[in-house]
Amino acid sequence: MEVIVSPSLLSADFLRLGKDVEMVNASRADWFHLDIMDGVFVPNISYGLPVTAQIKKAARKPLDVHLMIVRPERYIEDFRKAGADILTVHYEACVHLHRTIQQIKAAGMKAGVALNPHTPVGLLEDIIGEIDVVLLMSVNPGFGGQSFIEHTVEKVKKLKRLVASAGANTLVEIDGGVNFETGRRLVEAGADALVAGSFVFNSPDPAGRIEGLKKL
Ligand code: DX5
Ligand code: ZN
Repeated sequence: MEVIVSPSLLSADFLRLGKDVEMVNASRADWFHLDIMDGVFVPNISYGLPVTAQIKKAARKPLDVHLMIVRPERYIEDFRKAGADILTVHYEACVHLHRTIQQIKAAGMKAGVALNPHTPVGLLEDIIGEIDVVLLMSVNPGFGGQSFIEHTVEKVKKLKRLVASAGANTLVEIDGGVNFETGRRLVEAGADALVAGSFVFNSPDPAGRIEGLKKL
């Protein structure tokens, strides 16, 4: 199966966001990746609910919403209303992660769990069967355009083994520093989905970059 490609709008042109949303609609991308940052969990502030709701009006593909916020359980219902299809929370930001996953699903969304680079995949062993998507961070979250942390390739392999041993359907998605070279190695390691921000939007041919990632 071809890898799922989820372009991150963090690197889009915010003055012409509608144009970039249309580019993704017309491209071979599968999802829209939205990075929500609160300035507390990560040292940056991005955009929030009103912008998400506006993107939803124009998007013709699922919204893959990555919450980099503390206590994300406070906003599950708000992001559902804003149009999230996949809602991903950070392992490091949730005291009762199992309950939070259940709440996301009960609200009618797919549940994702993101792991920071220092967080071992084995910590998900007891709940892997309940998670729709694991988002492995291959940079420290907060900014686009950072370089890929090599250890992630090994983490993908470990996580795929964990998913298989549990007989789960969990998708493995990778976020940060993805380009044709790192993307190819991630796909070889078993990645199901790739997020790409600066590699797509800082190119004169963003749709071509998306197409190239699909073909990895
Ligand atoms: C980083 C975000 C990423 C970011 C990736 O905190 O989670 O989604 O947009 O950007 P690139 O692809 O430029 O590393
Ligand atoms: Zn992200």
